[in-house]
Amino acid sequence: MKRLFALTMGMLVAAQLMAADVLHNVYGRNVTSLNGWWQIVVDPYDTGMGYGIYKNAQPASKSDHAEFNFSDKEYIDVPADWNTQRQDLFFYEGTVWYKRTFEHNLKRDRLLYLYFGGANYQADVWVNGQKAGAHEGGFTPFFFDITGLVQKGENTVVVRVNNRRRPDAVPAMETDWWNFGGLTRDVMLVETPMAHIDDYEIKLEEGSLSRITGKVKLNLPVADVRIDVKIGDLKLNQKLTTDARGEASFTFDKKAPILWTPETPRLYDVELKCNGEKIEDQIGFRHIEVRGQQLLLNGKPIFLRGVSVHEEAPYRTGRCIAEKDDSTLISWSKFLGANFLRLAHYPHNEKMVRMAERNGIMLWSEIPVYWTLDWTNPNTFACASRQLKEMIDRDHNRCGVIVWSIGNELPKGEARDNFLRRLAQQVKQADQERLLSMAMTIDGAGENTSTITDPLLSVVDIIGVNEYIGWYGGTAADCNRHKWSIPSQKPIIVTEFGAGAVAGRFGDVTEKWTEEYQAEVFRRQLAMWSRQPSFVGVSPWVLMDFHSPRRMNHDTQNFFNRKGIISERGQTKQAFYVLQDFFKQKGAFKHLMK
Ligand code: GCU
Repeated sequence: MKRLFALTMGMLVAAQLMAADVLHNVYGRNVTSLNGWWQIVVDPYDTGMGYGIYKNAQPASKSDHAEFNFSDKEYIDVPADWNTQRQDLFFYEGTVWYKRTFEHNLKRDRLLYLYFGGANYQADVWVNGQKAGAHEGGFTPFFFDITGLVQKGENTVVVRVNNRRRPDAVPAMETDWWNFGGLTRDVMLVETPMAHIDDYEIKLEEGSLSRITGKVKLNLPVADVRIDVKIGDLKLNQKLTTDARGEASFTFDKKAPILWTPETPRLYDVELKCNGEKIEDQIGFRHIEVRGQQLLLNGKPIFLRGVSVHEEAPYRTGRCIAEKDDSTLISWSKFLGANFLRLAHYPHNEKMVRMAERNGIMLWSEIPVYWTLDWTNPNTFACASRQLKEMIDRDHNRCGVIVWSIGNELPKGEARDNFLRRLAQQVKQADQERLLSMAMTIDGAGENTSTITDPLLSVVDIIGVNEYIGWYGGTAADCNRHKWSIPSQKPIIVTEFGAGAVAGRFGDVTEKWTEEYQAEVFRRQLAMWSRQPSFVGVSPWVLMDFHSPRRMNHDTQNFFNRKGIISERGQTKQAFYVLQDFFKQKGAFKHLMK
């Protein structure tokens, strides 16, 4: 008994030192939601630390006083952005303190993690007045081992969230999207065994469309731990034992999986068991690659019928927080005939990614390395690199994700090029299952000619091109004459073109902000790119009108970017049907046309 206790304590110490690095697929684990109403204190001058808000300090006696309190008067919903929950916080950029309590009776041989799907932008977390940890970055998950902080009975969590923009942050000071602040994604307790599965990867073996390979990693470097991996529909039952690094792997070729495609988005129920914990996942098997100027899915050429999309909720606006928000965006995309979504300009929530792959929609996933960053600042790079790691750690088993993007429209320069090369190398080292790209910087090469001289052209697998002929310069008709001389044989996804239109505003094709003007830009742009042999996909800007602090025209925008092909109230514009017709020519709905 003593030996077991000593081992357990030893593992506990090791666990604290070797806490889970990934905690992959929390939704498939033993979780307790902490979503719901949290008490808040709005702290515009950031005086809360000095007041001891983090330990919920209370007046010691009636002759004492406190400059703050958490009360039943000030509540906010989690997950949600505070901007759209409270009219008085719509423009707010600063600190909000959150607090709630929870009870959790933790058995001795268990670990307890406090998990956040995302918090924009900086989060500091305390449990029972003790610092659990901090995280920077508004769109990727983070978690803390709170095993040593929780107590029997009631526990108090206090979170300080600050969304103030900073020149050294990622993104920095300028974004064309609203700076929605707060605990904008799920908050959960995750209970695990002392030694548990931290990460795993199950996929097609490199170069095969039938052989499956898998590897599993514990949170601790412990050998001889039993792990069972089961995929019932394939009669795959692997009884694994970890090595000294706490890792185990397998290959399987007795039954080939049905490959995932947009038309047949087959996902397999996967069960992983270890030390009494059962983790459930749904995994699809597919292979994406570039060959010459072609994009191949499972060895066959495919065209990406896509559209760009912000993580903004239809009708209600604000951050997507409910599955209904995501499912509306997905159903609009299916109605469009899309098989691809460019999730701009940051990782969207995990449920959206999982819902897209269930619906046969491939995804471009991007970190918010956007416009101008502090390229020479090592902290800025560290923050971008960590967000990239967190994005890949979370979604590297999601077959729907086919592109990792390391940035969007980044002014060229040596420091920026080096920053991006390092991020590109990180992607290549972390994941060979997906393509590396970015929305490159375009150069005008003459009257009616454009080119790309971006040094990262030689690094990406597939080229992302954002351009706005017909909106930020020239007319839609200019597309007829425009030539693209891109010095690369790699395939091109036109990641952005577009024009603004107020839903329901009609006129002729020369009048800006009319639906006719926007539709004409779409017609001419699609015709122009269809003349390019390396044109393998398109994701025009943008599925839905979205909030932006840069769009102040009272007559047309009112703090909305109006390039949506659907308004935030769900009104489809004429351009929607221009794009839908183009997608029909590219095979959309063919399974319905029989
Ligand atoms: C840019 C940028 C988008 C922006 C869009 C626009 O290309 O990538 O984030 O919203 O253009 O100007 O509407």
